[in-house]
Formats: sequence, structure tokens, C-alpha cells
Amino acid sequence: MDLWVDKYKPEELSGFIGQPKALHEITDFLREWKPREALFIHGPAGVGKTLAVELLAREKKHLLLQLNASDTRNAKDIEDFFGNASKSKALFHGGKIILIDEIDGISPQDRGAVTSIVKIIKESRFPVFLIANDPWRSKLIPLRNYCKLVRFNRIHSASVEKQLKLICKQEGIETEGDVLKNLARWSQGDLRSAISDLQIVAYGKKSLKNPDLQILGYRERESNIFNILPTVFHSKSMTAAKKAIQNVDKDPDEVFWWIEANLPNELRTPENMQKGYDILSKADMFRNWVSRQQNWRFKGFMIDMLSSVSLFRDEGKHGFSPYQYPRKLAMMGRSKQKRAMMNSLCERLGSFTHSSKRTVKRDYLPYLRVILKKRKKKDAGEGNFFLEPDEEKLIKAG
Ligand SMILES: Nc1ncnc2c1ncn2[C@@H]1O[C@H](COP(=O)(O)OP(=O)(O)OP(=O)(O)O)[C@@H](O)[C@H]1O
Ligand SMILES: [Mg+2]
Repeated sequence: MDLWVDKYKPEELSGFIGQPKALHEITDFLREWKPREALFIHGPAGVGKTLAVELLAREKKHLLLQLNASDTRNAKDIEDFFGNASKSKALFHGGKIILIDEIDGISPQDRGAVTSIVKIIKESRFPVFLIANDPWRSKLIPLRNYCKLVRFNRIHSASVEKQLKLICKQEGIETEGDVLKNLARWSQGDLRSAISDLQIVAYGKKSLKNPDLQILGYRERESNIFNILPTVFHSKSMTAAKKAIQNVDKDPDEVFWWIEANLPNELRTPENMQKGYDILSKADMFRNWVSRQQNWRFKGFMIDMLSSVSLFRDEGKHGFSPYQYPRKLAMMGRSKQKRAMMNSLCERLGSFTHSSKRTVKRDYLPYLRVILKKRKKKDAGEGNFFLEPDEEKLIKAG
């Protein structure tokens, strides 16, 4: 069986989706490349990082010498690869590109591997590309002095949907309603996983409907909640709803927010809505007691309350409705993300100032904030303080 991610992998840059800024930056880098300079591509999974380098190399007729760092265990492997890469003749090719992919897969114990990569960057007579999901890992810091960073973003869900549509057309699969929109949204900008999810749900089918998505079990994403919400809202059976909530791979707290966010769409008659919110407010009370008194028995009461939402079914309303992601969780997620970014930033700055994350946060950031705020526009630019635009914003926001 062909994997659709391979089958529909574009052969030329014209088929590459999105990332215009990153592609520009890579092209400029290749054109202006000087020895001892590498390009560090980073960004989330499945958005075309590896693919972009492959396609650009093909277009410019460069020979691409590729090493997957998560498969190599040590410095010697990396040096052997480079030794061979430098020797290999670029017959029929304009030049060479050396690509060391997935470098965040290098194990933290193997410090030698990073040193070897630095050596390659210093000695290479050809442009070197590095790729990682997260360039801020402290073990990768030594590389940053030699690299220009290029960021790849998540792919816009409309573009993902368009690509899924194209694939369905080629495969002769009819789609009903907003099934591809939902699939695209759930992929969270990861085109690879969107395509492989599509292949899974469409397996052996000639038409695709929203309920077909349920077999995905949503791979660690909102998947399972997506399976249980219909039971919670429509089953008319408290036992079934309770079982569903207990079996979902999410904390009941999260389930609470999912029900809260989707209740107004599911229970539309005023009487049902009133009853639903009444129940929800009681569940919320137990939820608070759990956290205040650290008494886990209240969690059981909360689940009982939540499952009784199933009793208020609107008559005549059937079928699937797209569920809303709870705004509350999105907010909490964002602040968690911010905290993580702040932590890794302080760790990195700490390695320059030889101080702990806490000291950086307490003693250095306030100054940096003032400096960044007072800095004239013309002085701003890439490379200053090695800050990403998001990080700069975070520091300025205080
Ligand atoms: N921008 C894109 N345009 C077209 N196809 C894409 C794009 N991004 C991803 N794909 C599809 O997803 C597959 C995986 O892409 P790729 O290997 O470039 O991801 P990646 O960003 O390197 O992810 P990872 O961080 O997991 O290595 C490709 O083979 C292709 O089918
Ligand atoms: Mg890759």
C-alpha cells in the first residue's frame, strides 16, 4: 500500500504549500552563502522543513547529502558522514548541500555530536543545513553562533483542507459536509498527519462523512473527547455518559470545559439550556472543592453531575455537530506555552551570563526589557541578542 504522504509529496517547488518567507530566506542563504555559516531550520512537525530543502536542492541541481541525526548515535558517525560527503563527487550537479536533519534527536549525553557538527560547519566547503523542531534546547546552543535561524510555521488550515480535497479528488473519494475542514482543523497545521489521517479514515471507502472521523481515536489530540461528547449530550443514559467520561483520556476537569463550551450548541431549547447550565454550575462547585480541599471524592460527584447533562436531549436534533475547542483551555495552553518559552529563553541567556534561570529572570530580564523597549527601530534586527520576534514580545510584555 502506498503511503499518501509519499504519493502526494510534491516533486517540484511549485507544489510546495505555504512558508513563502522561509523559502525566500533559504534561497537568499544559498545565493549569498559564505564558508563557516550554516542555516538552522526549525518549526513544528510535518510542515515541510525536510521537504523544502530537498526540493530546493533539486531545483538548483545541487547534490543533497543527508544525514538523519536521530539515527546516528555518536560523533564518529557524524564525522564519517561528513568525510564521505566532502569526498563524493557532485557529478552532473552544480554543487552540494549538506543536510543534518532532526538534530534535536541527538541524545543529551552525546556532547561530542554537537561538537562534530560545529566542526563540519567550520570546515565545509558547501552550505550546511541543520533541522530541528526546537532550536532552543540547551545542548544545541553551541551551534547557534554559526547559524542563521529560519522558522517554519504551522500550515494554515484552509491550505491543509485544500490539499486534502485535491487528494480525495485524485483518489475518487466523495466527501460530505465539512469533513475535510474538520480533519484539517484537527491536524493543527501538521500537513503530514492530516494526510495520513485522511488515508486511515478513507481506507476502503468511496465516500467520507463526519462520523467516519471517529475511528481515528484522534491520536492524542481532541480525538477521544470528540468520541464521547455525542454520548454525553445525546445518550439519555447517565450510565453511558458516566462511563464515557471515565474512559476518556482527558482529565475530568478538561471534560468539564469541553461540555461547558459546547452546551449552548447542543441544548438549544431554553428549558434544556437552563437545566444544563444548572447542572454545570453544580459540577463546577465540586470541581472547585477538589482543588481547594484536595479531596478527590468530589471528582466522582463532579463526573456524576456532568453525566446527567445527557438527560436533557433536545428532541428532533440528530447527527454530528462540529465541536468547539474550549476557549478556556486555549487560554491555559497559551500561558503554558509562554511559560515554557520563558523558561527556555532564561536557560539560554543564563548560559551567556553564567547564571541560573531564576537569576536571569529576576536580575537580567528587567534591564533587557528596558533596552528592547528603548531600542530604536533601525537597530532592531535579526541576530541582536539572538532573540526571536516572539521572545522579544514576551520579554517586552513583562
Ligand atoms: N509545505 C508542504 N507542502 C507540501 N507538502 C507538505 C508540506 N509540508 C508537509 N508536506 C507533506 O508532509 C510530508 C512530510 O513533510 P516533511 O518531511 O517536510 O515534514 P517536516 O517539517 O520535516 O517534519 P518533521 O519535523 O517531523 O521532520 C511530506 O512528504 C509531504 O507529503
Ligand atoms: Mg523532517
